[in-house]
Amino acid sequence: MEDYTVKKITEKSPYKFINSGFVKKLASLIKAGTDEEKIKLVRAKLRKISTSALPIKFYKKFEKLEFNKEILSMHRSTRERLAIYPELINKIKDVNAQKILDLGCGFNLLALFYFGFIPKEYVSYDLDNAVVQFVNRFASEKKINAKAECKDILETEFEPADLCFALKVFDALEDVERNITKNLLEKLKSNCKHIIASFSSISLSGRGRLKERVWFEKILNHLGLNWKKEVLGNETFYFIGRI
Ligand SMILES: C[S@@+](CC[C@H](N)C(=O)[O-])C[C@H]1O[C@@H](n2cnc3c(N)ncnc32)[C@H](O)[C@@H]1O
Repeated sequence: MEDYTVKKITEKSPYKFINSGFVKKLASLIKAGTDEEKIKLVRAKLRKISTSALPIKFYKKFEKLEFNKEILSMHRSTRERLAIYPELINKIKDVNAQKILDLGCGFNLLALFYFGFIPKEYVSYDLDNAVVQFVNRFASEKKINAKAECKDILETEFEPADLCFALKVFDALEDVERNITKNLLEKLKSNCKHIIASFSSISLSGRGRLKERVWFEKILNHLGLNWKKEVLGNETFYFIGRI
């Protein structure tokens, strides 16, 4: 029955690009009366935590889309952060980060590049294989030492890095597995010198304001991490570690 629902969920775009192990996990966690209801609920959750950041035309054309700075506006998070990337790049330079780990990466590598910063080494993960293929094609075309992998970050062992980006990703993780943030931060604390995490201050529809993530600050304090909070645009950033 689970196999049938997973097959149905992923038979069409954009869901067919999502890591199948993750879809399976979601299908086993979400309870529903019928298969049809489960298919609807899992797809709705996938839109919420992943695919709604991109328009459906991206999934139709991503293999052939040409790269240019305008493409940054296609991804909602990158678009909302256009004015903020120069400041994020300064933070990377301040700590002289050579190797960057990016969890739930979206289009970040493209944004760093078009704002003039080419990482020495960049390793990233995302659930969405269309995004992953797009980022890898970009890295190869621009000859950047970067790779993206289509993996669930909760099921992945990370390589150590100087700096980890976890931008707008913790809400998505908590949406699937409550209280998972502490485990992930513990892992990052031992693997990365610095972490830049962020949360959206506005709802997906863009109409409502979201509450401060006091729970996240409590975890940072509990783990004995140094952190500084800054609200930039519609996003609350946490600069964690020695930044
Ligand atoms: C709101 S988008 C943010 C993208 C990017 N970090 C940014 O801020 O520009 C969230 C991203 O995290 C990815 N994601 C969510 N849960 C994930 C997981 N468990 N493992 C890997 N990627 C995940 C989604 O596919 C999506 O690309």
